[in-house]
Amino acid sequence: MSMSVHELPQRPRSVLLTGVTGFVGQAVLERFVREDVDVHVVVRARKDVSGEERLDEVLTRNAFDRWRSEVGPDGVAAARARLHVIEADLAEGLPPLPADLDLVVHSASTVSFDEPWDAALRTNVLGPAHLYDALHAAGVDPHVVHVSTSYVGTDRVDVALEEPVAHDVDWRAEVEDSFALRTRLTEEAGGDPAAARDIETALRTHGRRRARELGWTDSYTMSKALGERVAEECWAAGGHRLTILRPTIIESAVQRPHPGWLDGFKVADPLIAAYARDRLFAFPGHADAVVDIVPVDVVVDAALAAARIPHDAPGARYLQVGSSVSNPITLDEFRAHVEEQVAAHPWPDRAGRPIRPRPWRFLSPDELDSWAERRATMLDRAARALELVPFSMGDAGRRRVEAASRGLTLMRDYVAIYQPYTCSRTIYDDTQTRRLLARAEQLGIAGALDVTRIDWRTYLGSVHMPSLARLAQERRRRSASRRRAAEARTAPERVRRPHTRPTAVAMGAVV
Ligand SMILES: NC(=O)c1ccc[n+]([C@@H]2O[C@H](COP(=O)([O-])OP(=O)(O)OC[C@H]3O[C@@H](n4cnc5c(N)ncnc54)[C@H](OP(=O)(O)O)[C@@H]3O)[C@@H](O)[C@H]2O)c1
Repeated sequence: MSMSVHELPQRPRSVLLTGVTGFVGQAVLERFVREDVDVHVVVRARKDVSGEERLDEVLTRNAFDRWRSEVGPDGVAAARARLHVIEADLAEGLPPLPADLDLVVHSASTVSFDEPWDAALRTNVLGPAHLYDALHAAGVDPHVVHVSTSYVGTDRVDVALEEPVAHDVDWRAEVEDSFALRTRLTEEAGGDPAAARDIETALRTHGRRRARELGWTDSYTMSKALGERVAEECWAAGGHRLTILRPTIIESAVQRPHPGWLDGFKVADPLIAAYARDRLFAFPGHADAVVDIVPVDVVVDAALAAARIPHDAPGARYLQVGSSVSNPITLDEFRAHVEEQVAAHPWPDRAGRPIRPRPWRFLSPDELDSWAERRATMLDRAARALELVPFSMGDAGRRRVEAASRGLTLMRDYVAIYQPYTCSRTIYDDTQTRRLLARAEQLGIAGALDVTRIDWRTYLGSVHMPSLARLAQERRRRSASRRRAAEARTAPERVRRPHTRPTAVAMGAVV
C-alpha cells in the first residue's frame, strides 16, 4: 500500500504543482486529486489549447483511470473545482501567485539530454528563478520540493552523496552567454530562414561541449545542477525550507497510479526499444557496473514523504531516490532480464513478423569506436561502388547500405548521449531518503513502496517491458495512421500533377 497524502502528519492546505502534464507531475497530481486541498497547477498553453483545456485532457489520461472509476463523475467534478490553473510558461515568468501556499512540488523541466543550450537554461535555470521570484513576491513561505536529478555531480565519484554539488559556475553569466550566442548566430545568419536549423544544432553542440568542459555529462545535467543552485540561493539561503529531490532513472510504476503505468518512452527506453528492434547490438559499458533505475511511484512516495515531513532546520535538504545502493542491478543483469523477456515476447516488425534481435554486447568505448570507424569506411566504399552500377540494378544494394548507414548513425547518436551513463561506476547514496521513509512508517504512514523489495527480473519482465511493448505498438499505430492521413492529403495532388506539369519526376511519382 502506498502512502496517502491525508495520513501524513503535516497536511498542506494549498499546494502549487508544476510539470503536471509530464510523467512525474501526473503521478504527483494523481495523489493530490484524492485529497481535500486546493491545488494550483502551472500549465503552459500550447498552440490553440489553453492551460485549462490541457489540464482537463490530463485528467482523462490513463494515470487517472483508477481514480476516476473510484470517485465517479461527481468526485471528478468536485476535484476539478479544487484545481486552479495558472497558465504560464516558467521560462518566461509567472503571474502573481496565491498568498496561502504551504507546499510547492516543482517538477517542470526539459529532460532532453541535448536541448539547444539557451533553451535548456531558460527552462531549467530561469524557470526555477522565476518560480522563486514569484513566491517572494507573493510573500509566502511554503516548503518547496524541487525535483532535480541524481546526475548533477561533476566528479566521477564512487558514491554520490545526498549533499550540495560543489562548483563555482555563475548561473546568471551562463544564461547571459547562451542568449548572447544565439543573438550572434542569428545575426551572422542574416535572417536566412534556412539557417534556423543550423543555429539550433550549433546551440546543441555548444551546450554539450560547455557541459563536458566543466565536468558534466551533458547540457541536461549541467542545467539541472545550476537549477539546484538557483533553489539554494533564491530560496534556501533566505531561510525557507527546501528539499532537493534527486531521482535516478525513473521507469514504470509498480503500483500507482496502476502497475506498469508509463507515460511514453523514458530515459532508458529508447535503448531497450532499439535492442528489441535489433537496431542496437553493441553498446559501450561495463557489464558489472550498476545501472540505477527506480519506479515512478517510489519517487512520488519520497516526494510526498518529504513534503509532509519537512526537515526541522531551515535551508536545504538533499534526498536521492534510486536503487543502486539499496537494491543494485548490474548492466549485465539488466541486459539478461530484457533479453529474456524479448525472447519470450518478441516485438513485431512493420509486417507483424517477430523480430529476433542479436544478443546485446557491451564493448569498451575504444572497441566500439574502432568498430564504428571500420563499419563507416566499409559502408562508404560500398556506397561509392554502387554509384558505378546502373540505378535499376543497384537499387536493393543501395537500400541495404542506406539502412546500415542509418543504423550506424543511430548507434553513434545513442553512444554520444548514453555512454556517460552506461560507462559510469557511480552509485547514488539514498541514506537520507530511506531514513525519511522509515520515519514515515514509524509515524504510522504505512507502506511507502520499498525499493529494496523489488525483484528486478519480475519488474522488468512483467511490469516494465510489457508496458514498453504496448507503448511501442501504440506509437507505431499512430505514426502509420499519420502517414496514411498525409498520403491521403497528398494523393489528389500527385494524381493531378501529370496533367499540369508532365515532367519525368512527376510521372515517376504517379507510377
Ligand atoms: N524521467 C526521468 O527518468 C527523470 C529522472 C531524474 C529526474 N527527473 C526529473 O523529474 C522531473 C520531471 O521529469 P519528467 O520525466 O516528468 O519530465 P516530462 O515528462 O518531460 O515532463 C516535463 C514537464 O515539465 C513541463 N514544462 C517543461 N518546460 C516548461 C515550461 N517552460 N513552463 C511550464 N512547464 C514546463 C512540461 O510541460 P509541457 O507539457 O507544457 O511540455 C511537463 O509537464 C524533472 O525535473 C526531471 O529533471 C526525471
